[in-house]
Amino acid sequence: MTLQELQPRLRRFNRAMIIGGLVLLAGLVAWLYLVLRPPSPWTDAEKVLIRSLWLGGLPPVPADPTNAVSQDPRAAAMGHALFFDTRLSANNQVSCAFCHRPDRRFTDGMDKARALGQSRRNTPSIVGLAYSPWLYWDGRRDSLWSQALSPLEDPQEQGSNRMRIARLVTSDEQYAATYASLFGELPDFSDTARFPADAGPGLKPEWDSAWQGMTEADRDLVNRTFANVGKTIAAYEALLLPGSSRFDDYAAAVIGESGADPDNLFSNDEAKGLRLFVGKARCMECHNGPQFTNFEFHNTGILSYPGDLPDRGRIDGIREVRRNPFNCLGVNSDAEPGQCLELTHARDGVELIGALKTPSLRNLDSTAPYMHRGQVKTLAETIEHYNDAPFAMIGHNEAENPLRLLPFERRQLEAFLGTLAAPIAAEEFLLLPPR
Ligand code: HEC
Ligand code: HEC
Repeated sequence: MTLQELQPRLRRFNRAMIIGGLVLLAGLVAWLYLVLRPPSPWTDAEKVLIRSLWLGGLPPVPADPTNAVSQDPRAAAMGHALFFDTRLSANNQVSCAFCHRPDRRFTDGMDKARALGQSRRNTPSIVGLAYSPWLYWDGRRDSLWSQALSPLEDPQEQGSNRMRIARLVTSDEQYAATYASLFGELPDFSDTARFPADAGPGLKPEWDSAWQGMTEADRDLVNRTFANVGKTIAAYEALLLPGSSRFDDYAAAVIGESGADPDNLFSNDEAKGLRLFVGKARCMECHNGPQFTNFEFHNTGILSYPGDLPDRGRIDGIREVRRNPFNCLGVNSDAEPGQCLELTHARDGVELIGALKTPSLRNLDSTAPYMHRGQVKTLAETIEHYNDAPFAMIGHNEAENPLRLLPFERRQLEAFLGTLAAPIAAEEFLLLPPR
């Protein structure tokens, strides 16, 4: 080929290069504009949603009608001590705080909890739970106090029994004094013929038969004392509240509750992440209200570990809470039956198969790994999960449509979740073992 023959081809090639380059450049500029431009002002509809998430809108902790001492400071002081007391376990080494560590927002950093044995699920935070009508990932308890009784007797957790615990709180000088001041007469468990050292229903065979050998009246007395132990622990837990975060300062500024300029409080990415959270990413369908949870049960199609059976979740939890003798309708509840509407009206349809309780998003900075078995290690992975909307292994994934968020949008959403971190709003001494 001669040079003359080559020239027109070269010219065509050059033209193509220039046009291609221009198209690329335009794309880059458009992309940069999308990512970097400041967010447009909040609409009135968005402001309503932002206000609904603002911590300033959280009402005072409601009194628990099932627990007459739920707001009694003496009960909270006793519960505080019990929460950190390792004597409440079979090996004298495991307290509630062993798994619910105050320095980790009351979680333990493990996928599934481990103490005397291994628990089935991940240790959730207990901050702000006094507002939750249901406890546990599957809601198998309906009050903080009835929940507190379960780990005490769980062989994988504290592995003790109600007889031993009832005797401990009525023989320890300090507990006994507070107990009597709260609940009246101190029960006397000194007669070992009537009250064996170890007894509890459905536990080790020897503990179970010791329990079956007691009179019904004596069993009732032990149950009442045991329930009261839970009620003091619940009074302590009710003092652990979420603290105001950077998001709350921003929200207050956006909705005119403070004079601050919102633009000084959030980066562009954080503001855009919030816009996705309240809008396109549909997170607020479940993570709503000032604690970022509706305290309800949803199937989000989280996979279980290979080899683990998928979690049946709420469908089993609702059956268990109805059977639980320490529920709202039980003899040791201080509520009138008419105050137990949550329990008597709870849903129990097939949509609850594989449904778990929506967790708060206010503790994420120190509560990894996430989800009911700690299956998800990072927030980025959590967002990937919602973006993909996989089929559920059991039941039906409610978040069924892939979100189709672009990579920079997923980063913005993650940046926004980071703004919810805040110290727990409780007096410092409550986060340490009592002296
Ligand atoms: C072995 C570690 C361990 C110990 C000890 C332990 N917990 Fe837990 N806790 C867990 C795990 C795991 C869960 C979730 C279990 C589930 O949902 O099935 C949980 C759940 C809870 C919940 C419900 C949280 C929610 O979001 O509904 C509360 C409240 C709680 N624990 C308080 C306590 C108290 C009070 C004690 C002491 C009496 C205690 N825990 C002892 C591991 C532990
Ligand atoms: C259909 C209700 C629903 C929607 C929609 C939803 N979530 Fe969730 N979220 C849940 C439930 C339920 C869990 C617990 C699931 C489990 O453990 O299996 C959860 C767990 C989480 C967790 C883990 C928290 C922890 O402490 O373990 C994060 C983070 C989270 N969601 C963020 C989001 C974000 C971001 C969005 C929006 C993209 C979103 N969620 C949308 C219900 C929902």
